Amino acid sequence: MSAATPIIPYDDLNLGKKEQVKKMFNTIAGRYDFMNRLLTMRIDVLWRRKAVNLMKKYPHDTILDIATGTGDFAIEFMKLAPSKITGIDIAEKMLEIGREKVKQKGLSAKIELLEADSENLPFADNSFDIASSAFGVRNFENLNKGLSEMCRVLKPGGRVLILEASEPSKGLFRKPYKVFMTKICPTIGGVFSENKAYDYLNKSVAAFPSGKKFEAELIKAGFTNTQSIPLTLGVTTIYIAKKEEAGK
Ligand SMILES: C[S@@+](CC[C@H](N)C(=O)[O-])C[C@H]1O[C@@H](n2cnc3c(N)ncnc32)[C@H](O)[C@@H]1O
Repeated sequence: MSAATPIIPYDDLNLGKKEQVKKMFNTIAGRYDFMNRLLTMRIDVLWRRKAVNLMKKYPHDTILDIATGTGDFAIEFMKLAPSKITGIDIAEKMLEIGREKVKQKGLSAKIELLEADSENLPFADNSFDIASSAFGVRNFENLNKGLSEMCRVLKPGGRVLILEASEPSKGLFRKPYKVFMTKICPTIGGVFSENKAYDYLNKSVAAFPSGKKFEAELIKAGFTNTQSIPLTLGVTTIYIAKKEEAGK
């Protein structure tokens, strides 16, 4: 497999990565939240909470959550009491579950979830204080386009906040982590959801840039002041970067 070969969920389908990812998330939507809680033992909730808390010190009145899925990151942002949170995703079934959660929590006036593509955002330049994505960017067909769009719609001085799965680089934990990702995750996924989705999870995390390599992608897309914060022995990383003010 060449370095440029995209990691896709269904090797046997003649569809591009975006269509495959959309199909996969539409298929697993009903079990998505349950599987997240099961496979991470609810630590994914704490990762989102930590990431959102880090945004308190930055402007946060308007927030765009990209690849929002079932809306957990968008809902977590309510802690910052913004005026408006917009979530976008390509998978309508994920959004349906997200909208129901938003409605149940009485947040429909504050959180809007829309079907849209991260690589072609339907928003004007300089619109949001924060552009976020939790476990979304790894799934983009064109990473640079997705990150550049996040930069375009941010106000100058705004922040991008990305939470993404990563591999622990070294140490005793790496081996059990690899066994978990390559064997246990797809097996549990096969029992409760779709095996291919959790095989894709393992392969896509292994192939995705993390740490300084991902910071380089953020810089390429137009951001400055990049930082990465590894969580839980490096199995997830928070990235924060700034859209520079004009003239700086
Ligand atoms: C692993 S889920 C993450 C959902 C949610 N952010 C969370 O924290 O649980 C990845 C999501 O990315 C979405 N996605 C992938 N490519 C996308 C794109 N080009 N534009 C918008 N959403 C996309 C998928 O449909 C899916 O809902």
